[in-house]
Amino acid sequence: MSEALQGQRLRRAALIAYPAALGEERLDFLLERSALQGAERASLQWLLSGALRETAILQALLAQLLRPGRQDEQISALLQLALYELRHGQRPEFAVVNDWVAATQLIGKVWAKGLVNAVLRRYLRERSRLDAIPPPQSHPQWLLQRLQVAYPEQWPQIIAANLQPAPLWLRVNRQRRSRDAYQALLTERGVASSSHPQLPDALMLEQSLPVQELPGWEEGWVAVQDGAAQLAAEILAPKAGERILDACAAPGGKTAHLLALGADDLLALDRSESRLQRTQAALQRQGFAPTLRLADAADPTTYADARPFDAILLDVPCSATGIIRRHPDILHRPSDLATLTQEQARLLRGVWPLLRPGGRLLYCTCSVLPEENGEQIAAFLDEQADARLQVHPLSGQRLPGQDGMDGFFYALLGKVAEAGEAA
Ligand SMILES: C[S@@+](CC[C@H](N)C(=O)[O-])C[C@H]1O[C@@H](n2cnc3c(N)ncnc32)[C@H](O)[C@@H]1O
Repeated sequence: MSEALQGQRLRRAALIAYPAALGEERLDFLLERSALQGAERASLQWLLSGALRETAILQALLAQLLRPGRQDEQISALLQLALYELRHGQRPEFAVVNDWVAATQLIGKVWAKGLVNAVLRRYLRERSRLDAIPPPQSHPQWLLQRLQVAYPEQWPQIIAANLQPAPLWLRVNRQRRSRDAYQALLTERGVASSSHPQLPDALMLEQSLPVQELPGWEEGWVAVQDGAAQLAAEILAPKAGERILDACAAPGGKTAHLLALGADDLLALDRSESRLQRTQAALQRQGFAPTLRLADAADPTTYADARPFDAILLDVPCSATGIIRRHPDILHRPSDLATLTQEQARLLRGVWPLLRPGGRLLYCTCSVLPEENGEQIAAFLDEQADARLQVHPLSGQRLPGQDGMDGFFYALLGKVAEAGEAA
């Protein structure tokens, strides 16, 4: 297939997906629906993620470049995508302008060719003035207010980190290769990476590349997993022979890590069938086949037997406000925090009785909001006489961008043998 045609396919897919993401659809689903694969899919993700992070800036630029009045939404979306590529892409400016002018045809709006051409060329001419205009607020009010209250000093850094593209983090499957051996392989191929002292299987790549180009990808030597997400298995520290419940497992990133660290009696649940299918494929690629079950984790009658669990990982659904840099569509969707916090509380209370006395439960979210994190755990500890917060050097709140990682929250809870007695 010619490069030009591939580019056209990419722009067609972007012109469908970008307005849909602004209309509150999930970026993951839109990428999946695009049916693009490999390098083309990676380019689409780059373009959409970037434009969704910078929507406020791109729209402010358009306000400067277009005459006021009624605007065509599809053309506005096309111009935003084109401006993003002009500001951050690698292709020559003339090619970017020509291709986006031609893309008017893909949405049946050939009449707008002249307008698109004029706006993009004016941007290039006046770029230094336009780029110097202070950027407008990028975060929705509901989130900005919460961040300002929860992090009176750090909120500007959190926002800045949310607007930076995230690096590619890998987790080397130690059942297949050691981290150092894999890093040497990457170096041989000219791919620079760095390790992290607290994450024995992690490598952070300086430059992203399509996963299919990673050595041993198909053979499951490596998985994509942010450093902060890799803390889960390190904190839970599974041992062979322990019975482990991974209560909200899909798409299986942490499940695979627990298995790689030696968990050999693991039950993984999720209540989404499609996500469980993805989990199965991902685990299979890495050479693992644990028991996967479609179930509501908060209702143990549907999956538990009389044997208690030694350890539980509870990676609850959350606002995902710690991973905006990877999922900037979150900036464009309202978040139903009340429903999420209720569901988190229901899950905590639902799985707790399955833990044996002396056992441990790791609660985790990829959120930075206290109501889903510290406050959720404090409320649980208040009402659960046999629950204790355990001190762990890797637990607590991590903010996005810290050590190049996503924002995550971890609380390790121990179950005391009897109320009042330390486990
Ligand atoms: C944050 S994601 C889990 C990510 C996963 N642990 C990983 O590392 O790849 C939360 C998951 O919880 C699932 N979920 C939500 N409510 C659930 C419930 N009541 N029971 C089981 N799974 C649930 C969602 O379908 C989603 O896959």
